[in-house]
Amino acid sequence: SRSINLAVIPGDGIGPEVVAQGLKVLSAALPQDVKLETKEFDFGAKRYHATGETLTEDDIKALEQYDAILLGAIGDPSVPSGVLERGFLLKLRFRFDHYVNLRPSKLGPGVSTPLAGEPDIDFIVVREGTEGPYTGNGGSVRTGTPHEVATEVSVNTAYGVERVVRDAFARAQARPRKKLTLVHKNNVLSYAGHLWTNIFNKVAEEFPDVTTDYLHVDAATIFFVTQPERFDVVVTDNLFGDIITDLAAAVAGGIGLAASGNINPSRAFPSMFEPVHGSAPDIAGQGKADPTATVLSTALLLRHLGYETEAARIEEAVSADLAERGESTRSTDQIGDALAVRVAG
Ligand code: IPM
Ligand code: MN
Repeated sequence: SRSINLAVIPGDGIGPEVVAQGLKVLSAALPQDVKLETKEFDFGAKRYHATGETLTEDDIKALEQYDAILLGAIGDPSVPSGVLERGFLLKLRFRFDHYVNLRPSKLGPGVSTPLAGEPDIDFIVVREGTEGPYTGNGGSVRTGTPHEVATEVSVNTAYGVERVVRDAFARAQARPRKKLTLVHKNNVLSYAGHLWTNIFNKVAEEFPDVTTDYLHVDAATIFFVTQPERFDVVVTDNLFGDIITDLAAAVAGGIGLAASGNINPSRAFPSMFEPVHGSAPDIAGQGKADPTATVLSTALLLRHLGYETEAARIEEAVSADLAERGESTRSTDQIGDALAVRVAG
């Protein structure tokens, strides 16, 4: 019989609350014959304070054994900024070669958006996940003086760009509209911009049925707001992708609804699925957090593992629930319960 071995990282703040609901809905979606085995890991602020560790080599070896990872949120004001980001989240993305950071944006029925009218928002951003300015390649001289000079080098390799661009083309080809937009800034970032553009144009030849487009990142932010229907699949680098996916989440109903997958398409390493939002310590433990982003992340997880029908069922359940939400203020648990019922029914 089939089974899914899932590493679960509830993390900090609202992480444990939303992950509990994600697991509830995920289990409800699975057919009887699929055995879901979960193992919890205690990464995050508590562990850091207790041991000074964020993610050890042994941890990485342990996590490597799983089919996938479900992450709530990591981060707490008691930990200096950057420690958990670099020591945990980015470390996992790099070590597990999560080169596709998949972030769908779809405006659900009845969901309020800051955009005017009834915008048509249904696109996915394929954000590169292992390179760009995230590699920690930089430095500072004359640090702390008025003459300090800091550099933060954006690393872009042909290998890294081609594989993510290829993945984005394949995703575009599998969607009805078959359109892929490259977002970069090649009018200013000459070296990286030209690498991306050249590779994009070269790979495009292998996907003649995919319509291509290019936008500078600044212009893309305008169109996310004024013409979101322009977008089907977007491919971009790590930092541009970070920024535009927050905007994409904002226009599609807020980060309470935004799901993401840190994916290694080759499956050489487990992929990790997480809501785009953070640990929101201000509302932790109060049952106020919306678990929808985590639930939608479990749909991405199932799709990645080949459970397309079950993934689609979770997404449909969320759509149906969103359509009826209105002004209702349900607790984290209540939303999870309602989604689990819909998915099972
Ligand atoms: C995200 C986050 C992370 C990122 C931070 C926490 C390192 O903003 O997942 O979008 O910049 O990738
Ligand atoms: Mn971000």
